Amino acid sequence: MIHAPLLKISPNAQGFTKAAEILRAGGLVAFGTETVYGLGADACNDTAVAGIYKAKGRPSFNPLIVHLATVELAEKYCVFNDDARALAAAFWPGALTLVLPVRPDAGVSKLVTAGLDTLAVRVPDHAVAQEFLQAFGGPVAAPSANPSGRISPTTAEHVVAGLTGKIDAVIDGGPCSVGVESTIVSCVGEPALLRAGGIPAEAISACLGRPIAMPDDPDTPMSPGQLASHYAPKGQVRLNAEHVEEGEVLLGFGPVDADLNLSPSGDLTEAAARLFDCLHQLDAMGATRIAVSPIPNHGLGRAINDRLKRAAAPRD
Ligand code: TXA
Ligand code: MG
Repeated sequence: MIHAPLLKISPNAQGFTKAAEILRAGGLVAFGTETVYGLGADACNDTAVAGIYKAKGRPSFNPLIVHLATVELAEKYCVFNDDARALAAAFWPGALTLVLPVRPDAGVSKLVTAGLDTLAVRVPDHAVAQEFLQAFGGPVAAPSANPSGRISPTTAEHVVAGLTGKIDAVIDGGPCSVGVESTIVSCVGEPALLRAGGIPAEAISACLGRPIAMPDDPDTPMSPGQLASHYAPKGQVRLNAEHVEEGEVLLGFGPVDADLNLSPSGDLTEAAARLFDCLHQLDAMGATRIAVSPIPNHGLGRAINDRLKRAAAPRD
């Protein structure tokens, strides 16, 4: 997609059709929600999702929230238990994100889940977000629509100021009414608060009928950021490998003779899009020692290297 200039889309039928077309073509569309503006991509398109990280200049691959128009659609992608159903009934559409086991046949990019077997889902409560999601019909991966390290955007103007030249379009939804990100609750096992946000923890506990485990609890050491580092291949990883040693499988980058290649042409967007899938494939192959070709440390290469460094770190 061509990212300049940034197209400002009005929230009408024609605009939503256009925005959905851009997503289907693999483009990036920012859109208003009640919490903050999201930077949306087709959650099933690896390259489009890699484009989110590129546009934001994110130096690491955190898993992303998938946005859907209805609870029924969310149930197609995740497995809901009784707690999750109760929370969805009470707070959706709204500023709540649920982390749930992903269905094996969900078809969502591994770059969205960062290779985890859980998926974060949210049904937003905003007319623009709703109509956009309905026009697209599928899952939309969307982090906040700001360059990495900058403040989350709560108007279309913030998005224009931060991301012009980097994304295709923004749908103007006016100022966000909540203005802080959604509350994230994991319903994998006993519910746990992963991020404070637009819905108070007290309201979540009241709905569950018991106090929700809070991030500072010693019993719940998993913050979302830490969770992202839980997925690593089973094999030992050696980085910046210029040659392959006996017994190693090569995960290549660029024109090298490799068992698996992130991008034979040396394209960082393609490499990011394929990264988690390749790590899973290495497990499936039973690779015990993995050599990884050097990957340039700029653009998406920084996020790829960050992820690979964690995968190569000594383990217990
Ligand atoms: O209000 C919001 O939530 C906004 C709007 C656009 O919906 N989105 C947002 O996305 O704040 P983002 O990418 O800035 O934050 C997503 C958070 C990250 O902290 C990430 O680690 C966590 O969600 N997350 C996503 N998937 C997860 C998973 N499977 N397990 C644990 N945490 C997850
Ligand atoms: Mg954010």
